Amino acid sequence: MSMTEKTTLEAKPKIDKGLDDVYVKESSICLVDGVRGRLLYHGWDIRDLAEHSSFEETVYILVHGHLPNKDELAQVKQAFAESRAIDPEMVKLLRSMPKDAPPIDVLRTAVSYLSNFDKERDDPTRAANMRKAQRLIGKMPTLVAAHHRIRQGKRVLPPDPSLGIAEDFLRMLTGRNPDPLSAKVMDVALILHADHSMNASAFAATVAASTLADLYSAIVAAIATLKGPLHGGANEAALKTMLTIGRPENAEAYVLNTLRNHGKVFGFGHRVYKTWDPRAIILREYARQLSELRGQMDLFHVAEIVQDTVVKELSAKHIYPNVDFYSGLTYHLLGIPPDLFTPIFAVSRISGWTAHVIEYWEDNRLVRPLDYYVGPTDNVYVPIDQRA
Ligand code: ACO
Repeated sequence: MSMTEKTTLEAKPKIDKGLDDVYVKESSICLVDGVRGRLLYHGWDIRDLAEHSSFEETVYILVHGHLPNKDELAQVKQAFAESRAIDPEMVKLLRSMPKDAPPIDVLRTAVSYLSNFDKERDDPTRAANMRKAQRLIGKMPTLVAAHHRIRQGKRVLPPDPSLGIAEDFLRMLTGRNPDPLSAKVMDVALILHADHSMNASAFAATVAASTLADLYSAIVAAIATLKGPLHGGANEAALKTMLTIGRPENAEAYVLNTLRNHGKVFGFGHRVYKTWDPRAIILREYARQLSELRGQMDLFHVAEIVQDTVVKELSAKHIYPNVDFYSGLTYHLLGIPPDLFTPIFAVSRISGWTAHVIEYWEDNRLVRPLDYYVGPTDNVYVPIDQRA
């Protein structure tokens, strides 16, 4: 008896739509502690990493599982700096994209094309995959910045290997060297989004990888999955809410009205965190500092009043701000347009995706779930000329 016959004939099994409570692997990469509001990468608290580390070091921790020594950190920074440049053919591809193509779609296409320039693409060894991961992580910011410049009709800027990933990303994007606070905030935002244990995009990457497809294919699957508003897009919606509210004196009434009409306030609530999302607390402080530096406090005050009102009204339901509430505002204060928020998420999260895929390959098993067939079983085929 085949598997399909078996499942069809047996009593209806429990169906885990959404796989909410299904564990698909053991992992030592990331712990999301939704009760205590902690996020750990290989045991290191993101609050410490945000304060003391850099995105490059965080990537090293995610992939290698230990803190680098001085030489290892210098090497990894050097490797990222060297891998940041993209082939002129890639720039040609970016120029050929329709002007109004969503940047996340362009990024997905670009990463797929990028695989053709990697001589190690089909080398499945762990060492080759580590090198591919490093090249991919290095090139993602360059791709996002180059496409943004092209669609603005501006000159594409080559990377500056003397700068870190975050600072150089802002420079390539805006054409200006960022002030130290903006560079630090970008670096922290990349650290905070680098991983979040198993989730839709990490799982999509894992499914592709489980077929022993190459790393690029797995990352393309992950980017495609991140695109959806249920995963990567909530910060855009949260910022839109703040801009719609506009002035602090309108904020409380807006929230109360939304809740009265059973609406959701974007940037609040989380499947795992039933308390404050630690990433939101860190980004709130940086959003405050950026607002002070820019001399524009209005939007930050709007955010604070929205936050206080939602928490007052909904803390009994364990609804608190999530990372998206303050990341949208933070990127806005950095001068980044909303349609780049999800690509920037990918620029950071690729570090987690590659770490998860490389970990999964150490004990690979093809992902092959079942569906429970409920369709007909005895249809009669009627030739086309005899159909009504
Ligand atoms: N605004 C108002 N009420 C809310 C919100 C919110 N943002 N989030 C949850 N609630 C209410 C629900 O209406 C529900 O109320 P009820 O019990 O009276 O029906 C209760 O809180 C529980 O909400 P659920 O949706 O069941 O909680 P769940 O854990 O399933 O959902 C989710 C979490 C999907 C994130 C939800 O909070 C939400 O839609 N938030 C807004 C969108 C958002 O910010 N998404 C980003 C998530 S973080 C990320 O992806 C990185």
